[in-house]
Amino acid sequence: MKRSLLATTLLALCSCRAQTVEPPHPSMPVSSASPMTTAETAKAQPALPTLPALPLEPLDAAGTMSAGAIALARVAGRTLSFIADADDRALVTFDVDTRVKLASTSLGMRPSAVLVTRAGRVAVLGADDAHVHLMMLVAVDAALVEERSIEVPAEPVAAALVANDDALLVASRWGHALSIVPLSASGHPVSIDLPRDPSAVVASADGKRAIVMHAAGSNASVVELATHTVTTGSLDRRVQRPVFNEMLMMPRPSASDLAGFENANPAPSQTSVPMPVARKPQVETVNLRADQTFALVRASDGRFMAPEVFVETGPAAPSGGYGGSHGTVTPAVVSFAGDDGRRLDSGGDRTFGSPCLLPRGAALDEIGKRMLVACIGSSAVAVLGVDAKGVKVARMVQVAKGPEAIAVDAEGRRAVVWSTFERTLSVIDLKGAPKRIATASVERAAPAPGEDVMRGQALFHASFDERVSSDGRACANCHPDGRDDGLTWSSPNGPMQTPMLLGRLEGTAPYGWDGTAKDLTHHLAHTTSRLGGAGLSKRDVTDIAAYLASLKAPVTTPADPTLATRGADLFHAEAVGCSGCHAGDALTDGDTHDVESGRPGRGGSFDTPSLRYIARSAPYFHDGRYATLGEMLTGTDGAMGHTSQLSPDERTALQAYLETL
Ligand code: HEC
Ligand code: HEC
Repeated sequence: MKRSLLATTLLALCSCRAQTVEPPHPSMPVSSASPMTTAETAKAQPALPTLPALPLEPLDAAGTMSAGAIALARVAGRTLSFIADADDRALVTFDVDTRVKLASTSLGMRPSAVLVTRAGRVAVLGADDAHVHLMMLVAVDAALVEERSIEVPAEPVAAALVANDDALLVASRWGHALSIVPLSASGHPVSIDLPRDPSAVVASADGKRAIVMHAAGSNASVVELATHTVTTGSLDRRVQRPVFNEMLMMPRPSASDLAGFENANPAPSQTSVPMPVARKPQVETVNLRADQTFALVRASDGRFMAPEVFVETGPAAPSGGYGGSHGTVTPAVVSFAGDDGRRLDSGGDRTFGSPCLLPRGAALDEIGKRMLVACIGSSAVAVLGVDAKGVKVARMVQVAKGPEAIAVDAEGRRAVVWSTFERTLSVIDLKGAPKRIATASVERAAPAPGEDVMRGQALFHASFDERVSSDGRACANCHPDGRDDGLTWSSPNGPMQTPMLLGRLEGTAPYGWDGTAKDLTHHLAHTTSRLGGAGLSKRDVTDIAAYLASLKAPVTTPADPTLATRGADLFHAEAVGCSGCHAGDALTDGDTHDVESGRPGRGGSFDTPSLRYIARSAPYFHDGRYATLGEMLTGTDGAMGHTSQLSPDERTALQAYLETL
């Protein structure tokens, strides 16, 4: 089976090369040579439509074949980009050379990522239908045709091909799993449970393991693909940063460096700004407590590189703000070995002067000398120089608002960037000093969200917005996508765990763990003061609230509905006593209670938290003291409901119910 698949792949590549010689009419299928050769593979792809697939050739500069919201491919001498357009629930086909939208494939779901396989199929991840859709291109200006789809756990957000194109690795963020999806129809997908929020995945060069980064909880996982063994830990968090003292805060871009960042379409001469240089003597190497990662690339020498944000969550004692009085957020690129996670850069890197506080998509250029990172909070792409010691900031190239994904066309030496807030594609020329050479906006087919939602989204993600913080942090630094970072921060009231906001704000006032803020305006006044920001206007608060209300949680179905129903009965049973406080639709009575969770001897009342999506927001309690729901149920018996009388089965059932909320 393996051999015939390989033969098929080679065949597909060969016909592809042959066809690129003579560019045909764009709407004509360029190849009639079907890659199907044997009965076995014909069976593997049963739903053959009348038109044969065009032989798409993936353009993946670094050869690591991992998926983001944008993928490049060549067919018949043209460079196409496929954009996973979540807002429009469509896959957009775009001609990179002519900057013309060629087609839009309506998907009926929100796609999160797209990848072109070596066999020329387009794999699209459905964030809200929990499927990988394998599609083929039959004409460059026509909608793609679905060949088949494969179910995976909730909210697939990232994917990568195993070296030989045998399988697709899919990371499901909400479903906290890695799936190994064979690309032959006869294979069966396998899903492996992981810690929460896997957000990026790449296969090792030898195809033996998957490296997975997590968006919350500071984790990285290595999955052995043959045995499915998972090793999760945190990477070494050594990082260089400026020395903190009373006088010196984090170096940040000067006003002139950031000037114009609000402007979506400046003249080409303004698209590149030089980086602020950090003053050397004031640099120290420290070990920070936590990190957040949304992207991962594999370099040609086999090392992995992840653009990250390192944070110091602060002391256990009450502090002036989130993370202490010098809220710290340090961007860095970590280089590490794929087998044991050993750091390969020389003790942190030299990117801390970068204004890239919300790195999202990343890509390497064709010779692996430059890394490009889409900085969603800075409306810019960071171009970083890569050498044996690590990574160094070279330039920031300004793009439209909300850059989320980036792909590099090796041949054209261009990077193509998708800015999701402004729905704009930017092309960056990489031949000399990187500069933006073109932009094209992608029109919306679906009705646009309200102005308030769009403004709220931009503000929620805005790095270096003085209304919000003094050190550049945005709401999205701790509440990525309106969720939570899985971290516990020092605050004036002691350590406080970041709550998930998605689905938990409506009907759940008051806010804050201590329940002192009667509405969002009051709570966000605390927030901005803890972050050193100047404060938000009434309209800012309304816009943020509108954005947060527009976010939808991925749909999940309980693994065992009967068990969950039994758990629901227990939750509402008087003897167990949960629903007295966690009442109604919002699962809170809107009141504070002492459930013996205050500091020893001090007591303390806390706001009954909403339990919506509780299984997705570990750890638990205001100070994050319980790592799992199971631990929490054991540890709180008698103080918060009664659970010690429950049999192990009943306990499992109660937990299964909590996982459906
Ligand atoms: C440094 C991390 C951090 C940043 C940045 C941050 N938050 Fe929070 N957020 C927290 C923590 C920690 C809490 C819990 C604080 C408490 O209860 O004292 C919280 C609580 C909240 C709550 C209350 C939720 C509830 O159910 O009670 C809201 C709403 C909120 N944040 C919104 C925002 C918005 C909007 C921004 C940007 C203006 C923001 N946060 C920035 C960490 C952060
Ligand atoms: C007397 C009111 C009350 C009762 C009864 C109660 N809870 Fe709670 N619950 C709270 C409070 C208050 C907190 C927050 C405590 C803290 O953070 O220190 C909480 C926290 C939680 C959390 C953690 C939320 C998070 O985001 O960290 C879960 C889960 C939970 N309760 C489930 C239950 C279950 C299950 C029961 C029944 C066995 C129950 N609760 C009974 C008041 C109550």
